[in-house]
Amino acid sequence: MTRHLITSAIPYINGIKHLGNLVGSQLPADLFARYQRARGAEVLFLCATDEHGTPAELAAAKAGKPVAEYCAEMHEIQAEIARGFALSFDHFGRSSSPQNHRLTQHFAGRLADAGLIREVSERQVYSNADGRFLPDRYIEGTCPNCGYDKARGDQCENCTKQLDPTDLINPRSAIGGSTDLEVRETKHLYLRQSALKDELDAWIDSKSDWPVLTTSIAKKWLHDGDGLQDRGITRDLDWGIPVKKGEDDWPGMEGKVFYVWFDAPIEYIACAQEWADAGKGPAPEPGADKDSVWERWWRTDRGADDVRYTQFMGKDNVPFHTLSFPATIIGSGEDWKLVDYIKSFNYLNYDGGQFSTSQGRGIFMDQALSILPADYWRWWLLSHAPESSDSEFTWENFQAAVNKDLADVLGNFVSRITKFCRSKFGEALPEGGAWGPEEEALADDLTARIRAYEGFMDAIEVRKSASALRAIWVVGNEYLQTVAPWTTFKTDPDRAAAQVRMGLNLIRLYAVLSQPFIPEASAGMLTAMNATDASWPDDVRAALQALPPGHGFTVPEVMFAKITDEQREDWQSRFAGTRG
Ligand code: 2FM
Ligand code: ZN
Repeated sequence: MTRHLITSAIPYINGIKHLGNLVGSQLPADLFARYQRARGAEVLFLCATDEHGTPAELAAAKAGKPVAEYCAEMHEIQAEIARGFALSFDHFGRSSSPQNHRLTQHFAGRLADAGLIREVSERQVYSNADGRFLPDRYIEGTCPNCGYDKARGDQCENCTKQLDPTDLINPRSAIGGSTDLEVRETKHLYLRQSALKDELDAWIDSKSDWPVLTTSIAKKWLHDGDGLQDRGITRDLDWGIPVKKGEDDWPGMEGKVFYVWFDAPIEYIACAQEWADAGKGPAPEPGADKDSVWERWWRTDRGADDVRYTQFMGKDNVPFHTLSFPATIIGSGEDWKLVDYIKSFNYLNYDGGQFSTSQGRGIFMDQALSILPADYWRWWLLSHAPESSDSEFTWENFQAAVNKDLADVLGNFVSRITKFCRSKFGEALPEGGAWGPEEEALADDLTARIRAYEGFMDAIEVRKSASALRAIWVVGNEYLQTVAPWTTFKTDPDRAAAQVRMGLNLIRLYAVLSQPFIPEASAGMLTAMNATDASWPDDVRAALQALPPGHGFTVPEVMFAKITDEQREDWQSRFAGTRG
C-alpha cells in the first residue's frame, strides 16, 4: 500500500484567509488526504502557518503586539478555523518552530559547502527613524513618470511603471512616514539556482503527468528572458530565522535573517519533525531512534523511497515549489524526498472582481463559518475548484448549487427513504423480499460509477470527482423514483421491503463515498444509519447489503436547509463592502 505524504501550501500568518486561498490549497489537499485514508493508505497530511517576512512584522505592529506574540495568537486562530472547516491535518505546524530554525540553517550550510551560495553587495534604502532597511515596496514617494504621490518603490500603481526606490521624488518610509532615509551598502546571500538549471529542467521534463498549469509556469521561469535567476535568500529584518551556516555563525551576516520563501517550504519537513516530536506519530520501531518516525516520510535513505509526495498550491506559489525548493533539496546533496506530483490551482474570483486580503474583499473563512456549516462551503468550493481556469463565486450560483445538489438531491433522498421506512415498517431495515432486476442493474451501474469516481479522485481531478459523486447521488434518486416503494407497498410489501433496504443501504454507501467532500454530513448519515462499518466499497454489491434486515436506524434531522432568497440577499449586501 502506497504511503501518501500530502502538504498544503502554508498560509501566511497575517490575517484570516479568504475562500479563494482555501480552495487553492488546504481544501483540495484535505479532500485527497481524506480519500486516501478512506482507501486504506497510510497518510501524513501537513500544513502550517508561514510566519516570517515583512508582512508579519507590519501586521504585528499594526495590532500593537510583539511579533512573536502576534504570530502565536494568529496561529491559534487559524488552527481553530481549520478545525471548523474539518481540515484533517495530522499536524498544523509553525514555520517559526525551533525545528524549522535548525533545519533551515542546516540546508543553508549544506548549500554553502556545495558552493551553491554566493555573497552579493547591494545598495539598499535604510530608514534611520525606523532603524531598519526598507524593502522596495515600503518606500513611498512621487512617481517621476506621472506625478502620483503614493507611488511605491517597486512600482507606480497609477501608471504601472516599474521603479527603483531611488527614482522616487521625495521618498519616505511607508512604515512611519519618515523622510530620514539613506542608501547603505549591505551584503546578501544568493542561492545559485542557475547552477542547477539543467538538473531542474530535466526533472521538470520527466514530469509528463503533471498538470500543464504547473509545468508551464516552471518552464516559463526556466526559459523566459535570461532563464533561471539566482535568488536572494537573506533579508535585513529582525523577525525570522537568523542566518547561520548550520550551527556556525556566518561572518558578515550578523543581524540578518533568511528570506521567508527560503524557510517556508523547509517547514514542510520541519512540520513532520514537529509532528513526531509532539508524539503524534507511531512509536519508533524497536531499536530505531526517535527521528526515524519522521525520517521514514522524508529521507529516501531511511525508508521514504516508497512514499508518494503530493503538494497542493495556488498558481502564484508554483515557481517556488517547482524550482527554488527543489534547488534547495537537490543542492543539499542529501537524500531528501522530492515532490512526486504538484497540483496547482487558478484563482477563484468573487462576484465580478477578485478576492483581496489587503482590500478585505470577498468572504473570509471565519465569516463563512459564521453563516453556514462547513460542508456547504466545502461542497461548493470543491465542485467549482478553479482547475482549468479561474472560476467565480457568485451568491446566486452558490445558492442554486447548494439547494440543488445538497438539499434536493442528497438531503431529500435521505429524508424520503428514512421517513417512508419509519412510517410503514418502523425504525429498522425491513425483512422479506429479495433483489430483482432493478437492484441488479443498480448495483452494476453503481459499480461502474464508483470505479470512475475513484479514477478521478486518484488523479486529483477535483471537479470531475464532484460531478461523479453527484451523479452517484442522482442514480439513487432515480432508482427510488422508478421502483416507487410507496406504490409497491400497496400490492407487494415484500418487494417494497427489499427496495427500502436498498435505499437505506444507499445512505450508508453515500456517507462513505461523500466523506472526503462533506465529512460532517457523512458522519451524521452514518450515525443515523447506526453504521459501524464505514469501509470503502471495494465490493459494491456487498456494500449495498451491509446493513442487514432488522438493523435499527433513526431518521436524521434536516441535513441541509435550503438557502432562501432573503438570506442570499442579506449575505450579498453584507459581504459587498470591505472587511474592517
Ligand atoms: O502564498 C502563500 O500563502 C505562502 N505563504 C505559501 C507558502 S508555501 C510554502 F512554501 F511553504
Ligand atoms: Zn506613475
